[in-house]
Amino acid sequence: MSNNAIGPLILGIESSCDETAAAVVAQGTRVLSNVIATQHELHRIYSGVVPEIASRAHLERIVPVVREAMHDADIQFEHLAAIAVGNRPGLIGSLLVGVSAAKALAWSLQLPIIGIDHIIAHLHAGRLDAEPITYPALGLVASGGHTSLFLVRGPLDVELLGKTIDDAVGEAFDKAATILGLGYPGGPELDRLAQTGDDHAHDFPIALIAPDSLDFSFSGLKTALLYAVRGQPKRNGNEHRFERDASSLSAQQKADFAASFQRAAVTAVIRKLQRALDQHTVRTVLVGGGVIANTRLRKELTDLARQRDLELRLPKHEYCLDNAAMIAGLAAEKFTAGRFDDWSLSASARLTAQRGPVHV
Ligand code: KG4
Ligand code: ZN
Repeated sequence: MSNNAIGPLILGIESSCDETAAAVVAQGTRVLSNVIATQHELHRIYSGVVPEIASRAHLERIVPVVREAMHDADIQFEHLAAIAVGNRPGLIGSLLVGVSAAKALAWSLQLPIIGIDHIIAHLHAGRLDAEPITYPALGLVASGGHTSLFLVRGPLDVELLGKTIDDAVGEAFDKAATILGLGYPGGPELDRLAQTGDDHAHDFPIALIAPDSLDFSFSGLKTALLYAVRGQPKRNGNEHRFERDASSLSAQQKADFAASFQRAAVTAVIRKLQRALDQHTVRTVLVGGGVIANTRLRKELTDLARQRDLELRLPKHEYCLDNAAMIAGLAAEKFTAGRFDDWSLSASARLTAQRGPVHV
Protein backbone atom coordinates (compact mmCIF):
# COMPACT_ATOMS: atom_id res chain seq x y z
CA MET A 1 0.00 0.00 0.00
CA SER A 2 1.52 3.36 -0.90
CA ASN A 3 0.80 6.84 0.36
CA ASN A 4 0.18 8.04 -3.17
CA ALA A 5 -2.69 5.60 -3.66
CA ILE A 6 -4.68 6.62 -0.59
CA GLY A 7 -3.28 9.98 0.48
CA PRO A 8 -1.13 10.59 3.55
CA LEU A 9 -1.39 7.73 6.02
CA ILE A 10 -1.18 9.09 9.54
CA LEU A 11 -0.84 7.18 12.79
CA GLY A 12 -2.63 9.01 15.61
CA ILE A 13 -2.04 8.52 19.32
CA GLU A 14 -4.39 9.63 22.12
CA SER A 15 -3.74 9.38 25.87
CA SER A 16 -5.19 12.57 27.39
CA CYS A 17 -7.44 10.96 30.00
CA ASP A 18 -8.47 7.36 30.61
CA GLU A 19 -8.39 5.80 27.12
CA THR A 20 -5.18 4.65 25.49
CA ALA A 21 -5.87 4.86 21.77
CA ALA A 22 -4.14 4.56 18.40
CA ALA A 23 -5.56 4.75 14.88
CA VAL A 24 -4.44 4.87 11.26
CA VAL A 25 -6.34 7.26 9.01
CA ALA A 26 -5.91 7.81 5.26
CA GLN A 27 -6.69 11.14 3.56
CA GLY A 28 -7.86 12.58 6.86
CA THR A 29 -11.20 10.81 6.86
CA ARG A 30 -10.81 7.11 5.93
CA VAL A 31 -10.31 5.18 9.14
CA LEU A 32 -8.18 2.08 8.52
CA SER A 33 -7.96 1.13 12.21
CA ASN A 34 -9.23 2.52 15.51
CA VAL A 35 -8.03 0.81 18.70
CA ILE A 36 -9.22 2.03 22.11
CA ALA A 37 -8.12 0.47 25.40
CA THR A 38 -10.36 1.89 28.09
CA GLN A 39 -9.31 2.08 31.74
CA HIS A 40 -12.81 2.25 33.23
CA GLU A 41 -12.26 -0.95 35.21
CA LEU A 42 -9.21 0.58 36.94
CA HIS A 43 -10.96 3.80 38.02
CA ARG A 44 -14.41 2.36 38.82
CA ILE A 45 -13.81 1.82 42.56
CA TYR A 46 -12.76 5.48 42.91
CA SER A 47 -15.80 6.75 40.90
CA GLY A 48 -13.45 8.99 38.92
CA VAL A 49 -10.16 9.03 37.03
CA VAL A 50 -7.09 8.79 39.29
CA PRO A 51 -4.28 10.57 37.38
CA GLU A 52 -1.39 8.41 38.67
CA ILE A 53 -3.22 5.18 37.86
CA ALA A 54 -4.12 6.54 34.41
CA SER A 55 -0.49 7.43 33.51
CA ARG A 56 0.77 4.02 34.59
CA ALA A 57 -1.91 2.21 32.58
CA HIS A 58 -1.09 4.32 29.48
CA LEU A 59 2.55 3.34 29.87
CA GLU A 60 1.67 -0.37 29.99
CA ARG A 61 -0.76 -0.22 27.09
CA ILE A 62 0.65 2.26 24.59
CA VAL A 63 2.96 -0.11 22.72
CA PRO A 64 0.45 -2.99 22.33
CA VAL A 65 -2.27 -0.49 21.29
CA VAL A 66 -0.04 1.05 18.58
CA ARG A 67 0.95 -2.43 17.37
CA GLU A 68 -2.69 -3.46 17.13
CA ALA A 69 -3.62 -0.30 15.21
CA MET A 70 -0.83 -0.98 12.67
CA HIS A 71 -1.87 -4.63 12.42
CA ASP A 72 -5.58 -3.83 11.93
CA ALA A 73 -4.72 -1.24 9.26
CA ASP A 74 -2.60 -3.90 7.56
CA ILE A 75 0.28 -1.52 6.89
CA GLN A 76 3.97 -1.28 7.79
CA PHE A 77 5.58 1.64 9.63
CA GLU A 78 7.38 2.70 6.43
CA HIS A 79 4.00 3.39 4.80
CA LEU A 80 3.26 6.20 7.28
CA ALA A 81 3.62 9.86 6.32
CA ALA A 82 3.50 11.31 9.85
CA ILE A 83 2.82 10.58 13.52
CA ALA A 84 0.15 12.66 15.26
CA VAL A 85 -0.49 12.93 18.97
CA GLY A 86 -3.08 14.66 21.14
CA ASN A 87 -0.76 16.84 23.25
CA ARG A 88 -3.27 19.23 24.89
CA PRO A 89 -5.35 19.62 27.04
CA GLY A 90 -5.66 16.73 29.52
CA LEU A 91 -3.97 15.05 32.47
CA ILE A 92 -0.32 16.02 32.19
CA GLY A 93 1.12 12.62 33.17
CA SER A 94 -1.19 10.83 30.75
CA LEU A 95 -0.48 13.25 27.88
CA LEU A 96 3.26 12.84 28.41
CA VAL A 97 3.05 9.09 27.79
CA GLY A 98 1.44 9.63 24.38
CA VAL A 99 3.74 12.51 23.45
CA SER A 100 6.87 10.54 24.42
CA ALA A 101 5.72 7.47 22.48
CA ALA A 102 4.88 9.58 19.43
CA LYS A 103 8.20 11.40 19.52
CA ALA A 104 10.17 8.16 19.90
CA LEU A 105 8.32 6.60 16.96
CA ALA A 106 8.61 9.67 14.73
CA TRP A 107 12.29 10.10 15.54
CA SER A 108 13.19 6.46 14.87
CA LEU A 109 11.14 6.37 11.64
CA GLN A 110 12.36 9.84 10.60
CA LEU A 111 8.79 11.04 10.20
CA PRO A 112 7.28 14.44 10.93
CA ILE A 113 5.39 14.82 14.21
CA ILE A 114 2.15 16.76 14.59
CA GLY A 115 0.71 17.84 17.96
CA ILE A 116 -3.08 18.06 18.08
CA ASP A 117 -5.57 19.88 20.34
CA HIS A 118 -7.87 17.17 21.74
CA ILE A 119 -10.93 19.45 21.90
CA ILE A 120 -10.66 20.63 18.32
CA ALA A 121 -10.06 17.01 17.25
CA HIS A 122 -13.51 16.12 18.72
CA LEU A 123 -14.95 18.42 16.03
CA HIS A 124 -13.33 16.25 13.36
CA ALA A 125 -15.25 13.11 14.48
CA GLY A 126 -18.24 13.79 12.20
CA ARG A 127 -15.93 13.93 9.17
CA LEU A 128 -14.57 10.41 9.71
CA ASP A 129 -15.87 7.76 7.27
CA ALA A 130 -18.09 10.47 5.78
CA GLU A 131 -18.45 12.82 2.82
CA PRO A 132 -16.75 16.27 2.83
CA ILE A 133 -18.66 18.95 4.69
CA THR A 134 -19.71 22.47 3.78
CA TYR A 135 -18.22 25.32 5.83
CA PRO A 136 -18.83 27.45 7.80
CA ALA A 137 -20.05 25.12 10.53
CA LEU A 138 -21.05 25.48 14.13
CA GLY A 139 -19.15 23.12 16.43
CA LEU A 140 -20.31 21.70 19.75
CA VAL A 141 -17.96 19.71 21.98
CA ALA A 142 -19.74 18.06 24.92
CA SER A 143 -17.47 15.78 26.91
CA GLY A 144 -16.42 14.86 30.42
CA GLY A 145 -13.89 17.70 30.58
CA HIS A 146 -15.29 20.32 28.19
CA THR A 147 -18.47 21.93 26.94
CA SER A 148 -17.76 24.48 24.22
CA LEU A 149 -19.25 26.09 21.14
CA PHE A 150 -17.11 27.01 18.13
CA LEU A 151 -17.51 28.77 14.82
CA VAL A 152 -15.64 26.53 12.35
CA ARG A 153 -14.78 28.42 9.14
CA GLY A 154 -12.48 25.62 8.01
CA PRO A 155 -10.75 22.62 9.59
CA LEU A 156 -7.89 24.82 10.86
CA ASP A 157 -9.84 28.06 11.19
CA VAL A 158 -11.78 27.81 14.43
CA GLU A 159 -13.11 30.42 16.87
CA LEU A 160 -14.27 29.71 20.43
CA LEU A 161 -17.69 31.29 21.01
CA GLY A 162 -18.48 30.05 24.50
CA LYS A 163 -17.66 27.44 27.11
CA THR A 164 -18.72 26.22 30.50
CA ILE A 165 -17.96 28.50 33.40
CA ASP A 166 -18.01 25.61 35.89
CA ASP A 167 -18.68 21.88 35.31
CA ALA A 168 -18.58 20.24 31.90
CA VAL A 169 -21.88 18.61 30.90
CA GLY A 170 -20.34 15.10 31.02
CA GLU A 171 -18.96 15.86 34.48
CA ALA A 172 -22.49 16.89 35.54
CA PHE A 173 -23.88 13.59 34.17
CA ASP A 174 -21.19 11.65 36.05
CA LYS A 175 -21.82 13.53 39.32
CA ALA A 176 -25.59 13.14 38.92
CA ALA A 177 -25.08 9.40 38.45
CA THR A 178 -23.01 9.26 41.66
CA ILE A 179 -25.74 11.16 43.56
CA LEU A 180 -28.25 8.57 42.28
CA GLY A 181 -25.94 5.69 43.28
CA LEU A 182 -25.43 4.47 39.70
CA GLY A 183 -22.34 2.73 38.29
CA TYR A 184 -19.24 4.26 36.71
CA PRO A 185 -18.85 5.90 34.26
CA GLY A 186 -22.16 7.50 35.07
CA GLY A 187 -23.24 9.18 31.82
CA PRO A 188 -24.23 6.02 29.93
CA GLU A 189 -25.91 4.53 33.06
CA LEU A 190 -27.97 7.67 33.62
CA ASP A 191 -28.93 7.71 29.92
CA ARG A 192 -30.19 4.12 30.21
CA LEU A 193 -32.13 4.73 33.42
CA ALA A 194 -33.70 7.96 32.08
CA GLN A 195 -35.45 5.96 29.35
CA THR A 196 -37.90 4.50 31.93
CA GLY A 197 -38.40 7.74 33.87
CA ASP A 198 -40.83 10.68 33.72
CA ASP A 199 -38.78 13.64 32.50
CA HIS A 200 -41.28 16.14 33.96
CA ALA A 201 -41.36 14.61 37.45
CA HIS A 202 -38.97 17.34 38.67
CA ASP A 203 -38.38 20.84 37.37
CA PHE A 204 -34.62 21.35 37.52
CA PRO A 205 -32.98 24.71 36.66
CA ILE A 206 -31.71 25.39 33.14
CA ALA A 207 -28.94 28.01 33.35
CA LEU A 208 -28.96 30.41 30.42
CA ILE A 209 -26.65 33.09 31.94
CA ALA A 210 -26.82 36.53 30.22
CA PRO A 211 -29.22 36.98 27.25
CA ASP A 212 -26.57 36.79 24.51
CA SER A 213 -24.04 34.61 26.30
CA LEU A 214 -22.91 31.36 24.70
CA ASP A 215 -21.34 30.16 27.96
CA PHE A 216 -22.73 27.16 29.84
CA SER A 217 -23.16 26.43 33.55
CA PHE A 218 -24.07 23.04 35.02
CA SER A 219 -23.12 23.28 38.70
CA GLY A 220 -26.51 24.70 39.79
CA LEU A 221 -28.31 21.79 38.11
CA LYS A 222 -26.07 19.28 39.86
CA THR A 223 -26.65 20.93 43.27
CA ALA A 224 -30.43 21.06 42.67
CA LEU A 225 -30.40 17.30 42.04
CA LEU A 226 -28.23 16.71 45.12
CA TYR A 227 -30.67 18.53 47.40
CA ALA A 228 -33.74 16.97 45.78
CA VAL A 229 -32.35 13.45 46.28
CA ARG A 230 -30.68 13.84 49.68
CA GLY A 231 -32.60 16.70 51.33
CA GLN A 232 -31.09 19.85 52.85
CA PRO A 233 -27.73 19.28 54.60
CA LYS A 234 -27.92 19.71 58.41
CA ARG A 235 -25.04 20.76 60.61
CA ASN A 236 -23.90 18.11 63.07
CA GLY A 237 -20.90 19.45 65.02
CA ASN A 238 -18.29 20.21 62.36
CA GLU A 239 -19.97 17.99 59.77
CA HIS A 240 -22.82 18.59 57.36
CA ARG A 241 -25.12 15.61 57.04
CA PHE A 242 -27.83 15.03 54.49
CA GLU A 243 -31.24 13.76 55.56
CA ARG A 244 -31.13 10.68 53.30
CA ASP A 245 -29.37 9.18 50.28
CA ALA A 246 -30.34 7.49 47.03
CA SER A 247 -30.75 4.09 48.72
CA SER A 248 -34.14 5.26 50.08
CA LEU A 249 -35.45 5.86 46.53
CA SER A 250 -37.57 3.34 44.62
CA ALA A 251 -36.39 2.26 41.15
CA GLN A 252 -39.11 4.46 39.60
CA GLN A 253 -38.13 7.50 41.68
CA LYS A 254 -34.51 7.10 40.58
CA ALA A 255 -35.55 6.82 36.94
CA ASP A 256 -37.70 9.97 37.31
CA PHE A 257 -34.75 11.89 38.76
CA ALA A 258 -32.50 10.64 35.94
CA ALA A 259 -34.99 11.59 33.21
CA SER A 260 -35.68 15.03 34.72
CA PHE A 261 -31.97 15.76 35.17
CA GLN A 262 -31.25 14.65 31.60
CA ARG A 263 -34.06 16.85 30.23
CA ALA A 264 -32.58 19.91 31.96
CA ALA A 265 -28.98 19.17 30.91
CA VAL A 266 -29.87 18.46 27.28
CA THR A 267 -32.20 21.48 27.09
CA ALA A 268 -29.39 23.72 28.37
CA VAL A 269 -27.08 22.47 25.60
CA ILE A 270 -29.72 22.73 22.86
CA ARG A 271 -30.80 26.26 23.86
CA LYS A 272 -27.20 27.49 23.68
CA LEU A 273 -26.77 25.86 20.31
CA GLN A 274 -29.99 27.56 19.11
CA ARG A 275 -28.65 30.87 20.38
CA ALA A 276 -25.37 30.34 18.53
CA LEU A 277 -27.29 29.46 15.35
CA ASP A 278 -29.29 32.70 15.72
CA GLN A 279 -26.03 34.65 15.94
CA HIS A 280 -24.06 32.89 13.16
CA THR A 281 -25.12 31.78 9.69
CA VAL A 282 -23.82 28.28 9.02
CA ARG A 283 -24.65 25.31 6.77
CA THR A 284 -23.42 22.50 8.98
CA VAL A 285 -23.33 21.45 12.64
CA LEU A 286 -20.33 19.45 13.85
CA VAL A 287 -20.63 17.72 17.22
CA GLY A 288 -18.23 15.59 19.26
CA GLY A 289 -17.33 14.38 22.74
CA GLY A 290 -18.64 11.56 24.92
CA VAL A 291 -21.98 13.23 25.77
CA ILE A 292 -22.89 13.26 22.06
CA ALA A 293 -23.47 9.51 22.61
CA ASN A 294 -26.48 10.48 24.79
CA THR A 295 -29.75 9.20 23.33
CA ARG A 296 -31.84 12.29 24.13
CA LEU A 297 -29.18 14.75 22.99
CA ARG A 298 -28.78 12.90 19.66
CA LYS A 299 -32.54 13.04 19.07
CA GLU A 300 -32.84 16.72 19.97
CA LEU A 301 -29.85 17.62 17.80
CA THR A 302 -31.44 15.73 14.91
CA ASP A 303 -34.78 17.55 15.41
CA LEU A 304 -33.04 20.95 15.62
CA ALA A 305 -31.06 20.35 12.43
CA ARG A 306 -34.23 19.29 10.62
CA GLN A 307 -36.14 22.39 11.80
CA ARG A 308 -33.34 24.70 10.66
CA ASP A 309 -32.49 22.79 7.49
CA LEU A 310 -28.88 22.23 8.54
CA GLU A 311 -26.60 19.31 7.86
CA LEU A 312 -25.86 17.64 11.20
CA ARG A 313 -22.81 15.40 11.42
CA LEU A 314 -23.57 12.97 14.24
CA PRO A 315 -20.43 10.85 14.67
CA LYS A 316 -20.63 7.12 15.17
CA HIS A 317 -20.61 6.13 18.84
CA GLU A 318 -16.92 5.07 18.82
CA TYR A 319 -15.89 8.43 17.34
CA CYS A 320 -17.87 10.44 19.96
CA LEU A 321 -15.82 9.06 22.86
CA ASP A 322 -12.08 9.67 23.13
CA ASN A 323 -10.30 8.05 20.19
CA ALA A 324 -7.18 8.50 18.08
CA ALA A 325 -8.90 8.49 14.66
CA MET A 326 -10.03 12.07 15.28
CA ILE A 327 -6.42 12.97 16.19
CA ALA A 328 -4.98 11.44 12.99
CA GLY A 329 -7.83 12.89 10.91
CA LEU A 330 -7.30 16.49 12.02
CA ALA A 331 -3.52 15.99 11.68
CA ALA A 332 -3.99 15.32 7.95
CA GLU A 333 -5.23 18.91 7.58
CA LYS A 334 -2.06 20.21 9.26
CA PHE A 335 0.03 17.83 7.16
CA THR A 336 -1.48 19.22 3.96
CA ALA A 337 -0.92 22.77 5.22
CA GLY A 338 2.72 21.89 5.95
CA ARG A 339 2.30 22.62 9.66
CA PHE A 340 4.54 20.26 11.61
CA ASP A 341 6.00 20.34 15.10
CA ASP A 342 9.62 19.79 16.07
CA TRP A 343 11.28 17.75 18.80
CA SER A 344 10.46 20.44 21.35
CA LEU A 345 6.79 19.35 21.16
CA SER A 346 5.52 19.00 24.71
CA ALA A 347 2.31 18.24 26.56
CA SER A 348 0.10 20.94 28.04
CA ALA A 349 -2.61 20.30 30.62
CA ARG A 350 -4.38 23.57 29.98
CA LEU A 351 -6.97 24.51 27.43
CA THR A 352 -5.29 26.44 24.62
CA ALA A 353 -8.57 27.83 23.36
CA GLN A 354 -9.51 31.10 25.00
CA ARG A 355 -12.45 33.04 23.58
CA GLY A 356 -11.77 34.03 19.99
CA PRO A 357 -9.48 32.43 17.37
CA VAL A 358 -8.06 29.06 18.39
CA HIS A 359 -4.48 28.08 17.59
CA VAL A 360 -5.27 24.67 16.03
O1 KG4 B 1 -15.09 12.65 25.19
P1 KG4 B 1 -14.97 11.73 26.36
O2 KG4 B 1 -14.78 10.26 26.09
O3 KG4 B 1 -13.80 12.18 27.30
C1 KG4 B 1 -13.46 13.50 27.53
O4 KG4 B 1 -12.74 14.11 26.69
O5 KG4 B 1 -13.94 14.01 28.59
O6 KG4 B 1 -16.28 11.95 27.26
C2 KG4 B 1 -16.56 11.20 28.41
C3 KG4 B 1 -17.83 11.75 29.04
C4 KG4 B 1 -18.10 11.18 30.44
O7 KG4 B 1 -18.47 12.25 31.30
C5 KG4 B 1 -19.28 10.24 30.20
O8 KG4 B 1 -20.10 10.05 31.32
C6 KG4 B 1 -20.02 10.98 29.09
O9 KG4 B 1 -18.97 11.43 28.24
N1 KG4 B 1 -20.94 10.09 28.36
C7 KG4 B 1 -22.28 10.26 28.38
C8 KG4 B 1 -22.81 9.18 27.61
N2 KG4 B 1 -21.76 8.42 27.14
C9 KG4 B 1 -20.61 9.00 27.63
N3 KG4 B 1 -23.06 11.19 28.95
C10 KG4 B 1 -24.39 11.08 28.78
N4 KG4 B 1 -24.96 10.08 28.07
C11 KG4 B 1 -24.23 9.12 27.48
N5 KG4 B 1 -24.80 8.14 26.77
ZN1 ZN C 1 -12.42 13.98 24.81
